[in-house]
Amino acid sequence: MSSNKNLLVLPGDGIGPEVVNEAIRIVDWMGEKRHFKFNVEQDLVGGACYDAHGSAVTDATMEKAKSADAVLLGAVGGPKWDNVARDARPEAGLLRLRKDLDLFANLRPAIVFDALIDSSTLKPEVVKGLDIMILRELTAGVYFGQPRGIEERDGVRYGLDTQIYSEPEIERIMEVAFDLARKRNKKVTSVEKANVMESGVFWREIATKAHKNGNTDIELSHMYADNCAMQLVRWPSQFDVIVTDNLFGDILSDCAAMLTGSLGMLPSASIGSRDPETGKVPAMYEPVHGSAPDIAGLNKANPLATILSFSMLLRYSFDLAEDADMIDKAVEAVLNNGLRTPDIMADGCRSVSTAEMGKAVVAELDKLA
Ligand code: IPM
Ligand code: MG
Repeated sequence: MSSNKNLLVLPGDGIGPEVVNEAIRIVDWMGEKRHFKFNVEQDLVGGACYDAHGSAVTDATMEKAKSADAVLLGAVGGPKWDNVARDARPEAGLLRLRKDLDLFANLRPAIVFDALIDSSTLKPEVVKGLDIMILRELTAGVYFGQPRGIEERDGVRYGLDTQIYSEPEIERIMEVAFDLARKRNKKVTSVEKANVMESGVFWREIATKAHKNGNTDIELSHMYADNCAMQLVRWPSQFDVIVTDNLFGDILSDCAAMLTGSLGMLPSASIGSRDPETGKVPAMYEPVHGSAPDIAGLNKANPLATILSFSMLLRYSFDLAEDADMIDKAVEAVLNNGLRTPDIMADGCRSVSTAEMGKAVVAELDKLA
């Protein structure tokens, strides 16, 4: 790989800066030992940006995000900004990055490491060897649908959001689902509420059409979202790729995350479409967990989801599967060695800090290099 890829790092709020620091340790290691260096630029997002500039992301940062080869984000939000107007709240920065970069495909893999089987609240036999991929549509649906707002009609106040999907929006996320499944176990479960929602009926129709149109080598099934939530805790290994809309994907991915033992373990990738002129595919990588303000600054947070997000960055933005595999193996080795941050602590294991965990991953990478 050429040595001048630009990485925009947005640590954000709460534990964001701490966990991102540990991922940077791995970025630096890659530069030293694997001889590809990233030009790393850091900037503000979320509440940190609001405090400095009065908005959750600035236009200048958006330009940097658009021109970077990839973005790595920590987490945004916290009670400090609870009373800020909705369009300036920390979450608005994240949503603008997703929307303006058109990062419509959000990959949230839920993998259970053998060493963490006892951290899951589910029985070991239910989660052993689990490897599923939740694909969440990220730039449409009720998160962005119009009209929305709080308004008065005939003297009664209403709160209102709109769930809306266009045919191309469903089609393109389905294509990503089939492509992902093709490299995995060739099964896609498309999730909606076609029993209740018009948008669900439409989603199912377009999903079926996309399947018939060149994807019949993949098995497609449909499931209602409530049933999917239940099946995820009952028998998660029945799934390979789950594809769903923005809101159901938000909820189901938190649920799938807990199968793995901790929200602190789950990475994610948000990917857009290739620019026909530059050939560039915009992408942002972030842990699924939030900013955990209660433990911010205490060196207690689990940095593994962010480190694994950097591994996804190498895999999906730069096609560096070998290097990504090395990081995944190093993380697995650290867990096998019994090192645990408090969120995944178990009997007989050694409790380590955020920084110790990052250093331990680097030490394992040294052994693998
Ligand atoms: C997520 C988060 C975000 C979302 C919040 C922070 C806006 O929960 O990435 O899952 O709802 O999409
Ligand atoms: Mg969420």
